[in-house]
Amino acid sequence: MNIKNANKFILVLMLSVFFANTNAQQKTIDQKVAALLKQMTIEEKIGQLNQYNDDADATGPTTVDNDKANQIRKGQVGSLLNAKGTVRTRSWQKIAMESRLKIPLLFGLDVIHGYKTTFPIPLAEAASWDLDAMQLGARIAATEASASGIHWTFAPMVDIARDPRWGRIMEGAGEDTYLGCKIAEARVKGFQGKLGDINSVMACAKHFAAYGAAVGGRDYNSVDMSDRQLWEVYLPPFKAAVDAGAATFMNSFNDLNGVPATGNKMLQRDILKGKWGFKGFVVSDWGSIGEMQNHGSVKNEYEAALSAITAGSDMDMESRCYKNNLTKLVADKKISIALIDDAVSRILKKKFELGLFDDPYKYCNADRETAALNNTTHVAAARDMAKKSIILLKNENNILPLSKALKTIALIGPMVKQLKQNKGFWDVDVPGVDSNFIVSQWKGLQNKLGANTNLLYAKGCNIEGNDKSGFAEAIEVAKQAEVVVFSMGEKRDMSGEAKSRSDISIPGVQEELLKELLATGKPVVVLIHAGRPLVFNYTADNAPAILYTWWLGSEAGNAIADVLFGDYNPAAKTTTTFPRSVGQVPIYYNHFNTGRPVTNDKEHLYRSAYNDLSIYPKYAFGYGLSYTKFEYSNFALNKKTVKANETIEASVTIANTGKYDGEEIVQLYLKDKVASSVRPIIELKDFKKIFIKSGESKTIKFVIDKEKLSFYNTQLQWVAEPGDFELMIGAASNDIKWKEVFELVK
Ligand code: BGC
Repeated sequence: MNIKNANKFILVLMLSVFFANTNAQQKTIDQKVAALLKQMTIEEKIGQLNQYNDDADATGPTTVDNDKANQIRKGQVGSLLNAKGTVRTRSWQKIAMESRLKIPLLFGLDVIHGYKTTFPIPLAEAASWDLDAMQLGARIAATEASASGIHWTFAPMVDIARDPRWGRIMEGAGEDTYLGCKIAEARVKGFQGKLGDINSVMACAKHFAAYGAAVGGRDYNSVDMSDRQLWEVYLPPFKAAVDAGAATFMNSFNDLNGVPATGNKMLQRDILKGKWGFKGFVVSDWGSIGEMQNHGSVKNEYEAALSAITAGSDMDMESRCYKNNLTKLVADKKISIALIDDAVSRILKKKFELGLFDDPYKYCNADRETAALNNTTHVAAARDMAKKSIILLKNENNILPLSKALKTIALIGPMVKQLKQNKGFWDVDVPGVDSNFIVSQWKGLQNKLGANTNLLYAKGCNIEGNDKSGFAEAIEVAKQAEVVVFSMGEKRDMSGEAKSRSDISIPGVQEELLKELLATGKPVVVLIHAGRPLVFNYTADNAPAILYTWWLGSEAGNAIADVLFGDYNPAAKTTTTFPRSVGQVPIYYNHFNTGRPVTNDKEHLYRSAYNDLSIYPKYAFGYGLSYTKFEYSNFALNKKTVKANETIEASVTIANTGKYDGEEIVQLYLKDKVASSVRPIIELKDFKKIFIKSGESKTIKFVIDKEKLSFYNTQLQWVAEPGDFELMIGAASNDIKWKEVFELVK
């Protein structure tokens, strides 16, 4: 055997040992689960499917139950949600250890964008298009949460959202399916790492499925959509989560084409557990099993439990329908015990994989908790993520970045001195932690600027309401400054669950105050804090500089200061279309052409558009500015025809011709020009975020394969049809720098 072959042999040997070990480990877990199952009474089995809220936080109707501890002791509860901290989780776990079979509890929590160290809201993070940073953010959230007793986060939310009226748009990656898949994968990997590692928590892809398409953006509402759209737009991020190894799924509140998702067999049993081979377990959403009575798909809780368990919902979050009805359903022979065993096994398996049977207090180490929460490494990562999430929407006459040599800066607005506001919805209130660790915008600027700069402050107005009594002071303060930074937007709980709004303009009198500030003639930089794309035409048209600063988390103030003063050059780009009016909603970039397409505002009548509005959104998908300038050149395709089993490569050179180093998000779009099913006018199929020093350039290459050319035809087959494709490379969906056609041949 020569050296090369010997090396190959060793590699094969190592791989077989590795796979044999993994298989053996899995086998032992399967065997352990089977052995445990044999010892369990039906009541104990059903207990594993039962999840209660720890009384602290609630996002749904709560059932006061003073008997929880007793039920845990009897093995009638498998999981608690909203129990936080090593002290609290340990005390519950101790009770579980008093049960006959000592099956540990699972502690689940909505760790959506950080635990104590709070990262930007997910929609803001998505705007960074920085998958590594998002993965790291999820990893840090998992590290802190797992140190604080948590085993399982109800994240990521991978719902595609095309309607900014829907408050939960803040929780996802935006409107695009391709980007949504990439972000789903990054977040699942970040949260989970390798399940069982001390810093890992189980991820939960939610809400399965199509929750983001609720009628009119009204939370919890119905969804009626074609199978083709479901498969093409809404399901792929869930499939990406399965492929990334997501341990759990959560179903959704909505009905899908008349069948509540919680009782939807096609979704959970046929697609998720069948076609996709998902081996984890599905938790219902809060009370969603019982809510099927309100939907009108079942008569009572007995039927609700039957519908959900048959459809593949394994764990009942807070509705108690399983606890109260599954035994009878088995006795009545409506369901087999095998169905229950399957659900129980899926849950027990995860408890074994997490290592909870070896040590139920594995994630309950108070020293680790103290060391992990908001440590300096985590704080640095949160600041980095926050500055990467800020979108520069406008920068007339290069007002930004501001000079650190400015003598007087006025910081005005209702957000300036706020702490908790910066965290945004779905933050975690960690027990025993006050808000002082959060860096306010005021503090962030103070940290940045030396003693030579005089920072002035006026609140000016509230976020909501009509009170203008603070205007005069704000105007006075503005007049004394060289530059005004005006901080406005939504309150942190205006976007989030059950936070749908029909009016998504800037609340209160904030834009009126801006008008007065602009009238002073001072340069005004506007910061907009929000959980969704807002409508702010006055600001967009009149303020010289705008940064979309979302809810950036606990390092908000520092990150904003980094961007304002040019220590970081903003690179983020929108991942949702920003409408110019609620009347345009839903508006998304990857729509069909229709038979009466509109190509510019001047066309009129008998076209598919509103007659009283521009056809354009305020900001298109993929849009965002930089302090520097990028020029695109040297476009090339390596061939003009491609076979399905081949790839085709497109390359482009990007030069940084401005004064600042910076990152550019280069976007690749495709359009299938003629197909058996109508195709969108443009679809994101790849992107690259690249750093280029001022004066330098980089050439990048995109590889297009069959997958990128495929779509679901009307028979729901995933096909790449021969014919012409238009390839587009650009800086935004509405800023295409180059187009070229190639042909897919048989
Ligand atoms: C939400 C879920 C969340 C659950 C637990 C529900 O109301 O829809 O996303 O995970 O509450 O807090």
